[in-house]
Amino acid sequence: MNNCWYDNKTVILTGASSGIGRDIVERLVKDHGCRVIGIARNEERLLNLKNSLADKSDCFTYYTFDVSVKENWEKFSETVKKEKLKPDILINNAGILPKFDRFLNYTTEELDIAMHINFYSCLYSMHCLMPVILESDSAAIVNIASSAALCSLAGTSVYSASKAALKSMTDAVREEYRGDCYIGLVCPGFTKTNIFCNQGASIESKAQKVMDFISTDCDRMCNLILKGMKSKREDMVFGVDAHLMSVGNKLLGTVCSHASSAVMKLSGIDLFAKVFK
Ligand SMILES: NC(=O)c1ccc[n+]([C@@H]2O[C@H](COP(=O)([O-])OP(=O)(O)OC[C@H]3O[C@@H](n4cnc5c(N)ncnc54)[C@H](OP(=O)(O)O)[C@@H]3O)[C@@H](O)[C@H]2O)c1
Repeated sequence: MNNCWYDNKTVILTGASSGIGRDIVERLVKDHGCRVIGIARNEERLLNLKNSLADKSDCFTYYTFDVSVKENWEKFSETVKKEKLKPDILINNAGILPKFDRFLNYTTEELDIAMHINFYSCLYSMHCLMPVILESDSAAIVNIASSAALCSLAGTSVYSASKAALKSMTDAVREEYRGDCYIGLVCPGFTKTNIFCNQGASIESKAQKVMDFISTDCDRMCNLILKGMKSKREDMVFGVDAHLMSVGNKLLGTVCSHASSAVMKLSGIDLFAKVFK
């Protein structure tokens, strides 16, 4: 790889145990000589990632905590200061995709959990860690939102809301700290990772085939994210489906969501049908 501004930097990355986060850790460590501090809850998967880095495993350390809890971030930021970890870059990647469903079918607890993991975790991490990130000459924050932040689809009310909130906060904070900190926002479209496990047994083979068809490979998505970061792109929309949602929403506004609902109804897929019942 050619020289890049984030070579040899110290990176804090949430959601390191799986999917996009795990892939990004591997590339930052192996290709860019970064020291990565990963955060997630599943220690077995984090340890597996560390071991897979072989002779570079010392470049990866991890902390296991739930990112949706404010006190965990307060405690972690104390550790960062005490251990003099001096992070340059924060990547907020941890997230969940709640079951595809109609709004009133979610309990308020499920809605709270999704907002806390997908949005409040980023608000807390930025509030706790920005002061120390800003001390770096290469200060950077990258938030992984979703194409759902650009155009809301039926069945994704709380997911779309959490990612749109993250987009809004990121856009405002970027303006406030322009020149002091590079702040990027990534809006990936469907990507082949474990995030769909939450859909459980309800995801029938027809739906799976559609998902597979429109989804971007995780490998490719990570390439795009790191390439976007390399040129310090602020808005990163990746994946054909994400581009369609972005352009569709800009041109058609709510008609884009409505047209998507029509396609979902016509598809005959059970996963979508229950949203309109
Ligand atoms: N895959 C897609 O189609 C897609 C599309 C658009 C946007 N995105 C976004 O991309 C990001 C990464 O998703 P992915 O597809 O890579 O999903 P994934 O494979 O399910 O990975 C999610 C990661 O988030 C961590 N996580 C979830 N809840 C957490 C919590 N409460 N505390 C700490 N860590 C937590 C998980 O770790 P533990 O379970 O070990 O805690 C895991 O490492 C998410 O923000 C997602 O919304 C994904």
